[in-house]
Amino acid sequence: MSGINETIVIAYTHGGNIETDVYEAIELRKSVRKYLNREVESDKLIRVLNAARLAPSASNRQEWRFVVVTDSWRRKELADASGRSFLAQAPVIIICCAATDHHIMTCSQLCYPIDTAIAIDHITLAAVAEGLGTCWIGAFNAEKTKKIAGIPPKIKIVELLALGYPVDPLKKEKARLPLDEIVYYEKWKI
Ligand SMILES: Cc1cc2nc3c(=O)[nH]c(=O)nc-3n(C[C@H](O)[C@H](O)[C@H](O)COP(=O)(O)O)c2cc1C
Repeated sequence: MSGINETIVIAYTHGGNIETDVYEAIELRKSVRKYLNREVESDKLIRVLNAARLAPSASNRQEWRFVVVTDSWRRKELADASGRSFLAQAPVIIICCAATDHHIMTCSQLCYPIDTAIAIDHITLAAVAEGLGTCWIGAFNAEKTKKIAGIPPKIKIVELLALGYPVDPLKKEKARLPLDEIVYYEKWKI
């Protein structure tokens, strides 16, 4: 696959405690459905999109493509097409797409939904680091969404992602199964 090779040398000037930052972001991220009427600065937007760009993908295929929508009229249209009115309040809606050849891995899974989802998750965690909230939206009408954003028929829309400043502060609250219900060691536990 094509791709520019980049070598970035990072100098840790503040103790290099990068793990704490990652875990902190994972714990703080939550689905935000109420947004402030405040624009997202373009440098922040570029940084979170770059986090998506740096995601891993099968054979480095990088099939993900992102349409960033900030126009209020178009956001309202997208909200109507998804039936999620709160979407219109988010200052940014990212239409997360894949320009895909439907490549299937040896394990018989399609690459593009997995790869695009990883990139989206990078955005959600980077957003936390920027003080921003996100919400994945799987409930949307793909055909209407394509029309609104001029997305060609052969492109797949994987998810929508709302992005903006949250009304309520991010909190470390999670309704999740305990580890011993989801992790087995050595063999599947019946
Ligand atoms: C693939 C996917 C699709 C989702 N679709 C929607 C959606 O259509 N509408 C919505 O309000 N939330 C949606 N969510 C958010 C989930 O409801 C939320 O992540 C889950 O309840 C856990 O809550 P948390 O994100 O606050 O930790 C989606 C999340 C994922 C990962």
